[in-house]
Amino acid sequence: MHLHLQSGRASSLRRWEMRKTHWRTDEERIEAHRAFFARFVAARAGVAADSELAEAFRTTPRERFVGGPPWRILTRHGFVEAPRDDPAFLYQDVVVSLDADGLNNGEPSLHAMCISTLRPMKGDRIVHVGAGTGYYTTILAKLVGERGGVDAYEIEPGLVRRAQENLAGLPQVTLHARSGAEGPLPECDVLYVNAGATAPLAVWLDALKPGGRLLFPLTADDGGGAMLLIARTDGEVWEARFLFQAQFVGCAGARDDTEEWRLAEAFRHRGWNKVRSLHRDDTPGASCWVAGHGWWLSTEAPTVTQHRDR
Ligand SMILES: C[S@@+](CC[C@H](N)C(=O)[O-])C[C@H]1O[C@@H](n2cnc3c(N)ncnc32)[C@H](O)[C@@H]1O
Repeated sequence: MHLHLQSGRASSLRRWEMRKTHWRTDEERIEAHRAFFARFVAARAGVAADSELAEAFRTTPRERFVGGPPWRILTRHGFVEAPRDDPAFLYQDVVVSLDADGLNNGEPSLHAMCISTLRPMKGDRIVHVGAGTGYYTTILAKLVGERGGVDAYEIEPGLVRRAQENLAGLPQVTLHARSGAEGPLPECDVLYVNAGATAPLAVWLDALKPGGRLLFPLTADDGGGAMLLIARTDGEVWEARFLFQAQFVGCAGARDDTEEWRLAEAFRHRGWNKVRSLHRDDTPGASCWVAGHGWWLSTEAPTVTQHRDR
């Protein structure tokens, strides 16, 4: 009986909330859209609605980062224009054009999944390659807090200018108007790349602190591939696994024709979800999934002895 009363009250409250369709101000209405968007994105990524990641999405206005309207939303068959300059259109789980030659603000739930897998903590140091106008850099900066730091790299001058403005209020962010595919890079706990590479670059692997994580799209010639997570473990062989398939624009300075071709073959003919480790040498063994210059991915997990060494 008591329980029945409670749920009756809860459902009438929900009905009341749903009837209340008039917001006092436009700002209040957009905040409501953003709050729902944050819950939606978090749920799609398997992250709790009250997590810091959901809170970072809830408090970051996407409209500041995607440029002025008309906003162009990506579909499989090209872009569709939002019919009005109402930011509510941006609070969907969609890719939005950054209004710069084929460069887009990525899919929120994809980035939420990636960021939650990377587990950035307060005080961590992050390297973010391909910052665009700074939307996901802002999310990362909120997660590490002012004790942490984010070094963001972007090569497109127009986007750098916009990122500079957007990131000005975050003292923990340093924006570098240069390629993040070249050294020197600062030592970091997390290295997150938002453009497709054909190899886990030595400069990225070398920047990882012990226990550090690298996540980047390993992609073939058509931009298709999968997000590869590498964790720096003790020993020569590091943990590596693909999270899910993804399509990205290329990372300048991180692509090689021969590796592109080998990756296309591997993605086409060998199960990408079998990859378990990264070797940093030029002597691929029988468990090799794909090999590049000075690295190869193996379907064998790092050995137990290597784990015990920790
Ligand atoms: C798909 S866009 C993503 C932008 C941003 N992360 C977002 O979602 O809003 C990829 C970005 O990577 C940048 N980029 C490509 N190669 C780069 C490199 N070597 N160093 C830094 N940025 C690079 C591009 O200019 C582009 O802005």
